[in-house]
Amino acid sequence: KMTTDNHLRHVESLPVFPSGAGNIPRLNAVILGEALASEENDYVFPSDDFSRNAHVSSPSQYLEMYKRSVEDPAGFWSEIASEFYWEKKWGDKVCSENLDVGKGAVNIEWFKGGITNICYNCLDRNVEIGNGDKVALYWEGNDLGSDDSLTYSQLLEKVCQLANYLKDVGVKKGDAVIIYLPMLMELPIAMLACARIGAIHSVVFAGFSSESLAQRIVDCKPKVVLTCNAVKRGAKVIGLKDIVDAGLAESTKNGVSVDVCLTYENQTALKRENTKWTQGRDIWWQDVVPKYPSTCDVEWVDAEDPLFLLYTSGSTGKPKGVLHTTGGYMVYTATTFKYAFDYKPSDIYWCTADCGWITGHSYVTYGPLLNGASCIVFEGAPTYPDASRCWDIVDKYKVSIFYTAPTLVRSLMREGTQHVTRYSRKSLRVLGSVGEPINPSAWRWFFNVVGDSRCPISDTWWQTETGGFMITPLPGAWAQKPGSATYPFFGVQPVIVDEKGNELEGECSGYLCVKHSWPSAFRTLFGDHERYETTYFKPFPGYYFTGDGCSRDKDGYYWLTGRVDDVINVSGHRIGTAEVESALVSHPQCAEAAVVGVEHEVKGQGIYAFVTLVEGVPYSEDLRKSLVMAVRTQIGAFATPDKIHWAPGLPKTRSGKIMRRILRKIASRQLDELGDISTLAEPAVVDQLIALADK
Ligand code: PRX
Repeated sequence: KMTTDNHLRHVESLPVFPSGAGNIPRLNAVILGEALASEENDYVFPSDDFSRNAHVSSPSQYLEMYKRSVEDPAGFWSEIASEFYWEKKWGDKVCSENLDVGKGAVNIEWFKGGITNICYNCLDRNVEIGNGDKVALYWEGNDLGSDDSLTYSQLLEKVCQLANYLKDVGVKKGDAVIIYLPMLMELPIAMLACARIGAIHSVVFAGFSSESLAQRIVDCKPKVVLTCNAVKRGAKVIGLKDIVDAGLAESTKNGVSVDVCLTYENQTALKRENTKWTQGRDIWWQDVVPKYPSTCDVEWVDAEDPLFLLYTSGSTGKPKGVLHTTGGYMVYTATTFKYAFDYKPSDIYWCTADCGWITGHSYVTYGPLLNGASCIVFEGAPTYPDASRCWDIVDKYKVSIFYTAPTLVRSLMREGTQHVTRYSRKSLRVLGSVGEPINPSAWRWFFNVVGDSRCPISDTWWQTETGGFMITPLPGAWAQKPGSATYPFFGVQPVIVDEKGNELEGECSGYLCVKHSWPSAFRTLFGDHERYETTYFKPFPGYYFTGDGCSRDKDGYYWLTGRVDDVINVSGHRIGTAEVESALVSHPQCAEAAVVGVEHEVKGQGIYAFVTLVEGVPYSEDLRKSLVMAVRTQIGAFATPDKIHWAPGLPKTRSGKIMRRILRKIASRQLDELGDISTLAEPAVVDQLIALADK
C-alpha cells in the first residue's frame, strides 16, 4: 500500500471538529510550558473567521487539492504555472524525472522548454498589473530610526541599473556572481539583477569567514564579487571588505582570481576613505551603478536554466553547491508562500532570515515578490538595542505575517513576556517557524504571547535542497499540534522508511524520504552530480533522502525529529561536523578532533568538540581559545564551538572508526547509556574522557 494513500486516509479520517470549536477556552488550559498528558492530542484550532477567509479553509478542501496534486501533478502545476509570464510555453512534458539510481542518472526537469525570467515575474509583471506604486521592500536598519523603502517600480529601476552594469563588465548568461552582502536592499537587488541577465548568483552569508568565502569562489569561479565595505550588527562594526580582500587573496593563490569587486559604501558603518582599496579591481557601487539606464532588457531563459547556487553543509568536509533552476523554483516558491502563510495582498510580511541562507532566497526575495507582497528587509540583530526590537518593528510596519526561527523564539522567551506585551502586535495574523524543530513550549509561547492566541503558526519543514516548503500547515485548513509541521504541501509525497528502505505505514518513525520530485527540487550539486546521487538518492533507491528523522502520529501528522547524519543544526544554521573537525585539526597543536551536537536550550543544538592534542602539548586555556579561533576564522563566528573537551584518545572501533554514538552520550552526560563499549579498540579511553569532562 502506498504511503500517499496512507496519508490521504489519515487526512480523511481527521476528526471533524464542530464549527465554533474556537481555540480560546481550550488554550486557556494550555498554560505556558505546562506538560500535557500527550502532546500528540493537543490540537490548536484556527478561528472560524480565519478559516472562512483562508485560501484553504478545511481539511476537505486541502484533501481535494492534495489528491489532485499527486494524481495529476502535470495538470495541477501547469494550471498554476500559467498564472506567470512565459515568453514561450513549456513543451509537452510538464515534468520528467528519474529518482532511481538503478535506472540511470538521476534527473529532474519541470516545465522544460518553457522560456521565462523570474526577475521579470517578480518586478515587471507586478508593475504591469498595477503594483508599481506598492512598496516592495521596506528596509529597517540596524540603528533605531534608520529606514528606507522601494516601490515595485523603484526596485525594478535599481535592479535594471545594476543588471546593465553587470552586463557592461562582461557578465553573461550562465556566469556565476558571488554576493557577499548583509541585509541591505542591495542584497535582493543583486540577486534579482543576476536573475534578470541569466547570471547564476551565489550568495555567501556575510557571517562566513574569508576562508569559507575563498572556498566558494574557487568552486564557482565568479566573474564579479558584490559586497559592501562594512556593516553594523548591534553595537559592533564588521569590516566585510577586509574579509572579502582576504578571501580574494586566498582564492588567487588557489588559481581563481576575480577582476571586479563592486563595493557598496555602507556609510553608517564605515566611510569610504577608511576602506582599504585595490585599484583596478575595486569599484564603488554608488559611483558607477546609478549612471546606468534604469531599464534593461530581460534575458529570457529556459525553465531548466540555473538560477542560483547556494552552498550548504553536508556530512563530509567540502560544502555542497546546491543548484536550483528557474521555472519550477519560481512556481513552487510563489505557491508555497501564498498558501502556507495564507498571503493576501494587504499583508505586510517580515521574515527574519538572512538572504545568505535558503530561507532568504525563497521567502525574503523570490516567493514574496512573485506574489506582489510588501516585505521587510532587516539589517540588524533582532535583540538590538533590546529584546523588544522585533515587536517594535511589527508595530512600526504593521507586520501581519511574521516568519522566524525557533532559536529566536526561545531566546526572546527567556527575556520575559514584558518585552512583547508592551507592544500592540494587533496587526499580526500568521506566524511562521523554520530551521529546526520547534519544541512545544516555545510553540506555545510564540502562539500565546506573541500571537495573543489568535495567529496560527506555520511550522514549515524544508531544506536548502528542497527550495520550498515541503511539510507545512495551511493555517486555515486544519487544527495544528504544537511542534508538528502537520501535513505535506501540494504535490509532495513524504514517506517514512526503516533502515532497509521499507516504507512504513500509519503511526511510525524512521527516515524521511520523498517519493517523486516537486517543482523546486534541486537539480544537482554544482560540478558533482555523482555526490548528488550518492548523498541523496543512493541511501534509499527510488527516493530522495532528506537526512532527517521523522515520525507520523495516529492522525497522520508529521513530527520532524532532527538530522540523522553528521550535520548539526545550531540556531537554525546547518553545520557539518566534518567542517568543524577539519578547522580544528588545521591547528598545529591539534592531532585529532571529533565533533558532535548536544542539546542547547536556546540554539537547539550546540557544538561539542573532543580534541586530542599533539603528543607532549599541555592543555591550557589559551590553547582552548586558539582552537575556538581556528573554527571562527575558517568557518565563521556562527560555528563557534560551545565546548572543547580534552581527549587523550577517542573511542574507536578496531578498524579505526570513531564511535560518535559514545561521544554523543558523553557530551550529553548520559553516562549510564553508553551501551556496549567492549568492541572498542581501547575501552579505557571512555573512562579517561569521562574524567576530563569538566576540565
Ligand atoms: O533538519 C531539518 C531542519 O533544517 C534542515 C535543513 O537546513 P537548511 O538546508 O539549512 O534549511 C533551513 C531552512 C529551510 C532540515 O534537514 N529543519 C528545517 N525546518 C525545520 C527543520 N526541522 C524541523 N522543523 C522544521 N520546520
